[in-house]
Amino acid sequence: MRQISEKRISGVMFLLGWVCLLFFIPPHAWGQTFISGKVITSDGKVVASGVVALEKGELHNNAFLTGGAIGSDGTFKIPLPSGGPWGLHVYSEGYIYFPLQVQIKAGSDNEIPVILPVDGKKGDDPRISDIRFNKISDQVFQIKMRVDDSDNNLGPQMLAVDTRRFRSYRLVPESGDLKDKKADFPGGEYASPFIPLSLDGEDLKNWFFVVADHQCSNGPIYNGLNQSVHKPPVAHAEKLKCEVAGIWKSSFEKVYQFTQGGPGMFSGKQFEGDIIIDKMDQKDDKVIMEFRFKDEKGRTELQLICKENQISMQGSFRLPNRTGDWIFNKLQNAKVAKSGEDLFTVNCSICHFTDRKDTKVGPGLKGVFKNPKLPKTGRSASEKNVRETLINGGAKMPPFKHLKDQEIKAIINYLKSL
Ligand code: HEC
Repeated sequence: MRQISEKRISGVMFLLGWVCLLFFIPPHAWGQTFISGKVITSDGKVVASGVVALEKGELHNNAFLTGGAIGSDGTFKIPLPSGGPWGLHVYSEGYIYFPLQVQIKAGSDNEIPVILPVDGKKGDDPRISDIRFNKISDQVFQIKMRVDDSDNNLGPQMLAVDTRRFRSYRLVPESGDLKDKKADFPGGEYASPFIPLSLDGEDLKNWFFVVADHQCSNGPIYNGLNQSVHKPPVAHAEKLKCEVAGIWKSSFEKVYQFTQGGPGMFSGKQFEGDIIIDKMDQKDDKVIMEFRFKDEKGRTELQLICKENQISMQGSFRLPNRTGDWIFNKLQNAKVAKSGEDLFTVNCSICHFTDRKDTKVGPGLKGVFKNPKLPKTGRSASEKNVRETLINGGAKMPPFKHLKDQEIKAIINYLKSL
């Protein structure tokens, strides 16, 4: 009797074990989740410095969790612990900061185009001073700083970003948090939560600090040594293509991304605001758009006009009870072509060496195209077979079906160079 019940118990445990295992394998175990982008400006430049901070969940819930620096090429790439809704905040000195609700797809790199408007009124920016790192214990420190705003309009974003570990922290006033307030935060001393890291050996240059006021102005961004991290933005080198696909800013101050849906057909994704584009067709240089604005149906006929690096669509719109003129100006696309080496580093380097032939998780890929046969399966080392391996995976290698054709091509070209 006793024996039977013990057997039963272990059977149940065994089953539970499997159920748990199934539960805890993350749905996208192979791909890390990232948010990335290139930060361009409404006056046609690429920023060369700045900081990104992300809240988990809805925008403006102040649950800051991750963040990172903007590189000197204007790009950022930040790993996220999960997909779903995130609030994205992008700051660069001299520009109005950019809050955006984003929906992140787990297991992939989510590219978000970011365009920062020029800050026309710099005098009223909030200011940070006197950043201090205070050691609480060997494994814990706290950050304090002073915040002032000439027009007393501080919002809740007083942020410290650990750009090396991709973490962000919100600092609160000494008098206590005012989380439910949106504006009118006091000037004065602000403190971070206790941060469970050792201060000894920490490079304070990797910590970035930013504050924003309620009009979305941010002042200079500092590092932990109280030095401004500002580098002047640089002019674009890329040339705009004379086509509808891409990012456009409208004369009604909205930003759209148009993508080709079929020959002569486009669809639009909007980053802010009320106007919804239902249908968009192109015939030569005529672009016809059907849209909705506050439940009213409208229509516009635009002309695509391409001049040297200034591409616009202009025309008039009609709504049931009014008409007017619209202009769309094309902006630089946030997408940058990634090199095969970059793609390999992100997707493959956890399992494959490139400088030797021995096994990491999968076989080393040095000289993979120079040998007649592929290292594991012994099939011929042809482009076709490698492409197949990448798309379908192997016995233990995950499939890379999400990579675009040109990305696979870039990886293959990189493998050929090994
Ligand atoms: C999670 C680990 C893992 C990742 C990530 C991974 N591989 Fe592999 N790869 C393997 C393993 C293991 C093998 C051996 C075959 C097998 O068991 O699937 C392999 C085999 C290969 C082979 C040899 C195939 C053959 O026929 O012998 C090539 C080429 C290859 N991988 C390229 C890549 C490239 C390029 C990427 C990135 C796009 C990549 N792998 C990502 C684990 C991985």
